[in-house]
Amino acid sequence: MKTIGVLTSGGDAPGMNAAIRAVVRTACENGMKVYGINRGYAGLIEEDIRELNIRSVSDIIHRGGTMLYSARCLEFKEEAGMKKAIETCHKFGIEGIVVIGGDGSFRGARDLSLRGVPCIAIPGTIDNDIVSTDYTIGYDTCLNTIMQMVDRVRDTVESHSRCIVVEVMGNRCGDLTLNAGIAVGATAIVIPEISCDIEKHVIERIKRTQKTDKKHFIVMVAEGIGGVEALARKIEQECGVESRAIVLGHVQRGGSPTVKDRVVASQMGYYAVQKLISGESNRVIVLKNDSITDYDIYEALCMKKSVDDQLYKVAHEISI
Ligand code: F6P
Repeated sequence: MKTIGVLTSGGDAPGMNAAIRAVVRTACENGMKVYGINRGYAGLIEEDIRELNIRSVSDIIHRGGTMLYSARCLEFKEEAGMKKAIETCHKFGIEGIVVIGGDGSFRGARDLSLRGVPCIAIPGTIDNDIVSTDYTIGYDTCLNTIMQMVDRVRDTVESHSRCIVVEVMGNRCGDLTLNAGIAVGATAIVIPEISCDIEKHVIERIKRTQKTDKKHFIVMVAEGIGGVEALARKIEQECGVESRAIVLGHVQRGGSPTVKDRVVASQMGYYAVQKLISGESNRVIVLKNDSITDYDIYEALCMKKSVDDQLYKVAHEISI
């Protein structure tokens, strides 16, 4: 393999730049030409492509976002879009692509692989919602951002003896909410994976802690559940504590990547190129039990995610 492409697709995540850097440098070190494909699959369809060298990826390891920009491309899901993307690969001589993104981006990588363009996928999303891997690039940075933001909110919540209901990103996955919830000492955590009786798990819990003289409360709610404003009003009425709701929003996706995100992204970028060099296709690079390994993308997409019940139990027991 002489020429490869690299793209980032779906929601950006801190650490994507570190992965791009590793892909480009590993490929260059192995005598390959590398094209950076801008705006994910959209750039592949529209030939928004530039050649990268080892210096093109200098000074990006510490930056959030993605130097290749990102997009969610509907056109690529159509046969015509896929055809154009493959034509671009032929035109530029691209013989393999490293795709950095979430599950949706993996489906695109699988479809390209099936049509003769070998792809290797790297899990990059703050959500940690990719079943095949224990870890997705961006997750640790995002968790730390949420913790820092909620710690700040805690200062004012405590000063005013209020309750704050915080909506956390994560799409349909509660990993960010559960782990950040434990880290900020939330009184209640509501995630999609575990059915929650609001009356019992939130209202009664707050009332119980009020009896022990607790005066301020943090309730963490996953975006897959939503309704933070209504929940704040309910808490105010039923528990008699002034309440506010906040949606942390896209601040959670930004910022300089943590050590963990930079290191895992660098490893995954390196291994993705090694897979292409050894002639493999349709693989996803994953972190399993602290080791980097890989799976067939189709198999990976069929895996079922389970929530960490034990961790939820710990959160529940100690949030009093
Ligand atoms: O995939 C990351 C994520 O931030 C999710 O947590 C969230 O549901 C979604 O992307 C938001 O997407 P957008 O930036 O397109 O609004």
